[in-house]
Amino acid sequence: MTTDVRDQFSRPLQDLRISIMDRCNFRCTYCMPKEIFGDDYVFLPEEELLSFDEITRAAEQFAALGVKKIRLTGGEPLLRKDVPELIASLREIEGIEDIALTTNAVMLPKQAKPLYEAGLERVNVSLDALHIDVFQEMSGRKTSPNAVLRGIDAAVEAGLGVKVNMVVRKGVNDEEVIPMARYCKEKGLNLRFIEFMDVGQTNGWDFSQVVSKKELLERVSQIAPLEALERNYFGEVASRYRYRDSDVEVGFISSVTETFCGSCTRARLSADGKLFTCLFSEEGSDLRSIIRDGATDGQIRDWIQGVWGKRDDRYSELRTEESARNRRKIEMSYIGG
Ligand code: GTP
Ligand code: 5AD
Ligand code: SF4
Ligand code: SF4
Repeated sequence: MTTDVRDQFSRPLQDLRISIMDRCNFRCTYCMPKEIFGDDYVFLPEEELLSFDEITRAAEQFAALGVKKIRLTGGEPLLRKDVPELIASLREIEGIEDIALTTNAVMLPKQAKPLYEAGLERVNVSLDALHIDVFQEMSGRKTSPNAVLRGIDAAVEAGLGVKVNMVVRKGVNDEEVIPMARYCKEKGLNLRFIEFMDVGQTNGWDFSQVVSKKELLERVSQIAPLEALERNYFGEVASRYRYRDSDVEVGFISSVTETFCGSCTRARLSADGKLFTCLFSEEGSDLRSIIRDGATDGQIRDWIQGVWGKRDDRYSELRTEESARNRRKIEMSYIGG
C-alpha cells in the first residue's frame, strides 16, 4: 500500500526499544507459550547478541536522528549480566531524555538499586494477576506473584518510577481486573491494562479473547469514577485516566480496538541487531552487519534513515482474523515488548 506523505512527517522517529535478551525466566501464555518455548527451544547464541558497545554505538546514531527515549526490553532484559553498565553508557548520550526498562521484576530486589544508581529512571513491570493460580497460568511458571510484588517494592524503594502492565486475556485472567486495580490504587501504582494482541504466531490469539478498552473502563469505573487525562506526549500508547477520589492514574492500551498506528514513533532493535519498524513486521533489517562491517557513524545514520523513510506500517489498523492467523510475524519475546 502507499503511504500518505503527511504520515511520514507526523510519525517522527522518537523512541527506540532495544531488546537485549531473547530469553526469559517466565513463559507467559500470550508471549512465550511453553508448548513452543520448551526446554529444547534454541535461543540466540551469545555471539549473535549485540555487545553493549554495539548497542551504545547504535543508540548514539538514533539519538543523532532525533530519538529521545530508549526502552530496554527482552525477553527478560535483567537476565543479561551487567545491565547497569549499559544504562550508564546510554545515559551519556546527548539527546536521550528518558531511559526505561520493561521487566517481570523478579530480579529487581537485587538489581533495582544498582540500576537506579547507574541512571535508570523507571521500570514497567508485567504483572497479570494477584491470585496465585491465575498468575501461574498466565506466567507459565510456578513462581509466586509475591516475587513480582517484592520486585515492585524494591523498585519503589530504590527511587525508580513504576508502571504495572497487565495483559488481559478473556476467560484466563479477566477476573483479576478489579483486584489488580484495587491493589494498585491502594499502593499508588500506575496500572495499565493491555488488550491481548496477536503478536508472533504462537499465542493462539483470536478476537474472542480480547477484552476491549471500553469494557475494561466500565469495569474499573465501578471502583471509583474516572476522569480522562490529556496525553503526556505525542505517540503515547496508553490513554490515561485518574480516579476522581485520588491522584492515582490508570491507563488502557487499546492496541486492538482503538489503534494508534497514526502516531507510532517507535523503532525496535532485536537482541541480534535487526531493526524493525513495526511490532508486527515479517522481517527486520540487519543493522548488526552494517556495524560489524565497519560502517562510519554517518553511514549508519544514512542506513537507519533509509529504513525509516520507507516505513508504511500500520498493522493494527489493518488487522483481521485472517492476518492474525496467517501473516508471518516475529515473536514479541524476540522483538521486545
Ligand atoms: P511509557 O509510556 O514510556 O511508559 O511506555 P509505553 O506506554 O510504550 O509502555 P510499554 O513499553 O510498557 O508498552 C506497554 C505495552 O503496550 C507493550 O508491551 C505492548 O503490549 C503495547 N505497545 C507498546 N508499543 C506498541 C506499539 O507500537 N504497537 C502496538 N500495537 N502495541 C504497543
Ligand atoms: N499482547 C499484548 N501485550 C503483550 N506483551 C507481550 N505479549 C503481548 C501480547 N500478545 C507485552 C506486555 C508485557 C510486555 C513484556 O510485553 O505488556 O508486559
Ligand atoms: Fe517474559 Fe515478559 Fe514475555 Fe512474560 S511477557 S514471557 S515476562 S518477556
Ligand atoms: Fe506501530 Fe505497528 Fe503497533 Fe501500529 S501496529 S502502533 S505501526 S508498531
